[in-house]
Amino acid sequence: MNNLIIAIDGPAGAGKSTIAKIISKELNINYIDTGAMYRAITYKCLKNNIDINNTEEVINMAKDTEIDFRDNNIYLDNEVVNEEIRTVEVSNNVSNVAKIKEVRYLMVDVQRKIGENNSVVLDGRDIGSYVFPNADYKFFLVATPEERGSRRYKELLEKGYEVDLDEIINDIIKRDKIDSNREFAPLVKAEDALEIDTTGKSIEEVVSEVVSKIRR
Ligand code: CDP
Ligand code: CDP
Repeated sequence: MNNLIIAIDGPAGAGKSTIAKIISKELNINYIDTGAMYRAITYKCLKNNIDINNTEEVINMAKDTEIDFRDNNIYLDNEVVNEEIRTVEVSNNVSNVAKIKEVRYLMVDVQRKIGENNSVVLDGRDIGSYVFPNADYKFFLVATPEERGSRRYKELLEKGYEVDLDEIINDIIKRDKIDSNREFAPLVKAEDALEIDTTGKSIEEVVSEVVSKIRR
């Protein structure tokens, strides 16, 4: 049987990773959070005082970096960095790292290798449009910036961060803009992706829309 590839793309806070995780459990296939990879590179830049505008230095560092997914953890050079990559500082810098073409080549290489021999659901920005243009199923999740911002805000509050809702919404809008306008593999809905507006929908409702499409 061929590998099953499911692509879930969309802007920040649309619910991609929540839905992708549930789908991976339901179908018993791997889950790759591709955003976590770009976040890990960004975290390493910040930790090592690498100037994100110094493209050459970022690329050299990325070439010398190992990112793995094991047991629901993300490893950066063999260290678990699940929490470290989710800070507001990483979120506010990641799009400028992710727009570097050579960094993308390195990450996409890892993603395609995983998909070569495994059934996998991946969430990101360019999975259906660039990484796996022949994916078996493609979904594009959207929601209003206000809804996406307040989802992120709630998460950060629960983790004990002091955050401002308007600031979070603005940060998300800024990030979407950079992601959508970058030259190489931008955030875009693949022509053959099914768009689902998750505004006002529960996680269960979205999962059931996705699953019913796959099982049909
Ligand atoms: O979870 P959230 O929507 O906040 O973001 P993420 O999925 O963790 O992705 C973080 C950032 O990585 C995005 O804003 C993009 O700049 C970048 N990214 C990308 O360029 N391509 C992907 N396939 C996934 C993420
Ligand atoms: O991966 P992405 O940035 O697209 O979003 P996420 O991290 O999966 O979802 C952001 C937050 O929205 C999570 O806390 C989810 O529980 C929540 N969510 C929701 O409230 N309703 C949905 N239909 C989907 C997600």
